[in-house]
Amino acid sequence: MKKDILITAALPYANGAIHIGHILEYTQADIYNRFQKMIGNNSIYCCADDTHGTPIMLKAKERGITPQELIAEASINHQNDFKDFLIEFDNYYSTNSPENKELVEFFFNTLNQKGHIEKKEIEQAYDEQEQMFLPDRFIKGTCPKCGAKDQNGDSCDVCGATYSPLDMADAVSVVSGKKPIKKSSTHYFFKLTHFERELKELLQSGFVNEQTANKMNEWFKEGLQDWDISRDAPYFGFKIPGEDEKYFYVWLDAPIGYIASLKNYCDRHNIDYKKFWTKDSENKSEVYHFIGKDISYFHTLFWQASLMGVDFRTPKHIFIHGFITVNGQKMSKSRGTFISARTYLNNLAPEYLRYYYASKTNGRLEDVDINFEDFVSKVNSDLVGNFVNIISRSAGILGKHFDNTISTLNEEGQVLLNKIREKKNEIANAYNECKYINAVKETLLLCDEVNKYYEENKPWVLVKEDKEKAQKVLTLGLNAARVLMIYLKPILPSLAKKVEKFFNEENYTFNDVETTLENVKLNEFERLMERVDIKSVEKMVEDTKKELEELNKSKNQNVKEEVNASDITPILPEITYDDFAKVDLRVATVENAEIVEGSNKLLKLTLNIGIEKREVFAGIKSSYSPEKLIGKKVIMVANLAPRKMKFGVSNGMIIASGEGELISVATPLDSEKAKSGDRQF
Ligand code: MSP
Ligand code: ZN
Repeated sequence: MKKDILITAALPYANGAIHIGHILEYTQADIYNRFQKMIGNNSIYCCADDTHGTPIMLKAKERGITPQELIAEASINHQNDFKDFLIEFDNYYSTNSPENKELVEFFFNTLNQKGHIEKKEIEQAYDEQEQMFLPDRFIKGTCPKCGAKDQNGDSCDVCGATYSPLDMADAVSVVSGKKPIKKSSTHYFFKLTHFERELKELLQSGFVNEQTANKMNEWFKEGLQDWDISRDAPYFGFKIPGEDEKYFYVWLDAPIGYIASLKNYCDRHNIDYKKFWTKDSENKSEVYHFIGKDISYFHTLFWQASLMGVDFRTPKHIFIHGFITVNGQKMSKSRGTFISARTYLNNLAPEYLRYYYASKTNGRLEDVDINFEDFVSKVNSDLVGNFVNIISRSAGILGKHFDNTISTLNEEGQVLLNKIREKKNEIANAYNECKYINAVKETLLLCDEVNKYYEENKPWVLVKEDKEKAQKVLTLGLNAARVLMIYLKPILPSLAKKVEKFFNEENYTFNDVETTLENVKLNEFERLMERVDIKSVEKMVEDTKKELEELNKSKNQNVKEEVNASDITPILPEITYDDFAKVDLRVATVENAEIVEGSNKLLKLTLNIGIEKREVFAGIKSSYSPEKLIGKKVIMVANLAPRKMKFGVSNGMIIASGEGELISVATPLDSEKAKSGDRQF
């Protein structure tokens, strides 16, 4: 019987690029979806960008664009990255959508009517300068437990303590650099405790792996806390009905985004999305979430309780994975191992990583290590050397001696092929349980057997002695490879396409394992897959380091601006007249001044210094509108080496003093006497 299956992966935040850590999860869920489709189920893989919240609002502000512009850009980038990793969603949507708004209001109103929501007055850290409440991660200070400096507002990286930012004596706002004050406000709370019994029952159903179940038991022991689901303006998200200045917390609307994405898909395909979510749908359809261990609290407690509260069914299983480490260590920007999806794709083929991740997916919570040597060796010896090689060497001989035509299996071949087929259920179960490691292992063992059979029969020798037998041996080898390809197709969809083409077939399903190809002419063979070169891996790491350097350069630029603008600048060490004479200070006329799109500090100036014109970026927007400068004479450093900035190259610098809105540009006192190009002394 065909099953209706909904598969989701966590919704990536719209304020960051997809990296190879994310790819683990989206690949795992993609393999699941492809497998379910291959065994004939109606599975739908839904995802979306997670678009709301303070970090996204601030990131947009920093870039001088609107949150809507930011999330539109992210959506395109994310989907390109996924597509190129062969991650094929049935629907990729956004939490900033009408469907989601409607569903969030439905959840909230229902929970409210049933008495699961309570209003409470709470005190929080508030940034007076920016006029906003500060999420914990936007506060830094000294850990109140161990005294470690520069820790986050909610927990200490050094001693692991958790606390409130209000306990930090020297807390500062990351947004303004100022000390936050305490301010109170009314918030909406979801009474998680109302669902304690049901959540404990759910735990018995085995909907998470054993390690997460243990974690949940710890949480129950610590006691469930009410969940704060509202945030005060300014915030980017959905407004709470009946409130002007309050929004739903992003983590309330994000998981509802799973349903919104599904609904958007179903509405376009004439399906009732409720058949996945009503209580009585539990026997008719299945829901699976894929998430990382860092967000299990949200998914195993808050999300389940939200579903229970509106009388929706809960998912059949949540597959929870650990984090990616590289060469045994946390992904790190400075080591060049915090690799973006795009940088990976610029250097390596997507299926190498899909294969490597699948070969390590065991359904457990432990972190997954990418060891570069192991990565290269697994791809080269197991995937290319063991599996792909069966097809390439067979195709070579078949093309040269048999006009690409296979014959029939002999008895020995039949036995071996049946043996390979017998593994079908075992392999299917491995996929179904998200233990892809077993599917890969079993398939590789079968590859070993085929290669052993080739070593014993040596078709490349046989072809000179007993052509007919040689052809039968190749017929087995290719039929075997075809079945093995079907086993690996959820992991290697693009390779499978090439193999299908070679066999003149299409859209392999798991049932195609049962057919034998005999007496047919195959297509011209095209190379299937190259070995990985460790140099490409090294280049990927180098590229990642370079990206970080670029980023730091532009950051230092900002830091420099801030330091220059800081309160008291001590007098610098003495210089000689000769040192000073090296600075070429000139009078320049501002011919044009304009705003720099995306920067809230800079103006772009065109300066005339008599002999030539210069384009200079100056951080004076806070104090000058462009009109005020055009036609004015200013003083510039004319022989400063050009500096590459985020928005272009600055060919010189104008002299100014002050900070904030009190910047004052230096000008020649009698501007009518001063001519463009005059040297200052
Ligand atoms: N937006 C939330 C999820 C909301 S779901 C209703 C979020 N986004 S995320 O972009 O930070 O992460 C998306 C998924 O990628 C999460 O499941 C997370 O665990 C996973 N990973 C993020 N970094 C990872 C690694 N370094 N390694 C493995 N998985 C990682 O969380
Ligand atoms: Zn500490």
